[in-house]
Amino acid sequence: MESVDIYLNKGVKEVITEFPVIEKILDEFNIGCGACGEGLCLLKDIVEIHNLDEDREKELMARISKVIYPDKEISFPVKKRTKPTSKEIKYSPPMKKMVDEHVLIKRWLALIPKVIESVNLETEEGLILINKGIDFIRNYADKYHHAKEEDETFKYFDNNLDIIKVILNDHVNVRSHVKAMLEAIEEKDKDKLAEHLTAYSEILPKHIKKEDEILYPWMDRNLTTTQIGKLYSKFNEIDTEYGEAPIKHLKFIEKLEKELV
Ligand SMILES: [Fe+2]
Ligand SMILES: [Fe+2]
Repeated sequence: MESVDIYLNKGVKEVITEFPVIEKILDEFNIGCGACGEGLCLLKDIVEIHNLDEDREKELMARISKVIYPDKEISFPVKKRTKPTSKEIKYSPPMKKMVDEHVLIKRWLALIPKVIESVNLETEEGLILINKGIDFIRNYADKYHHAKEEDETFKYFDNNLDIIKVILNDHVNVRSHVKAMLEAIEEKDKDKLAEHLTAYSEILPKHIKKEDEILYPWMDRNLTTTQIGKLYSKFNEIDTEYGEAPIKHLKFIEKLEKELV
């Protein structure tokens, strides 16, 4: 018997580089490490982060072992589970709030191709529209929503954890595209604006999927009931502080959907 510990403690990208077929196996289990872009997570954490049930975990690890040691019987530790797993994700109230905010962000993302088509940086009307779009990105998707993520939820976790680093890295990338969008408006450069709006609209859907399906459920499993309660009351405070602003953003999206779709 030989242990796979040495591989369990390697970054998943490194393991995939050595054994490319493992990426396909992970894909079959809906663990898209290849598409993640970071692949920093250790192989041993993949099971915990993606919340596989015990049978799926055994199946996955057996298949991976077979690739790494085709001729040997391998033993591997099965993770202890504290809470039962189920297919349908049940979010705690604060996580549910953030998932719901993603819905409005996704409606905006769906509008971006039409916004790019119709954008006009030469007219006052055109400028009003694009500036409202940027305002939605900066003040709803970033300040209001990311305030709940970065300033409140992440503080309960070590920000050096791979799973958090991946998400924070996306936020940094998104912000750099927004900065370039503002420059493009200033320079009246339609192509530059389209380029960065497109890049933004490509990062965000994957980012939201990672949060909805991986990060938030993982956080829920790792927060205590007291911490979840504190988080929820903090979120309510943030909502009160922002007052009518989220409603204004919702109205903007609804109006745009009527005009552009
Ligand atoms: Fe985020
Ligand atoms: Fe988010």
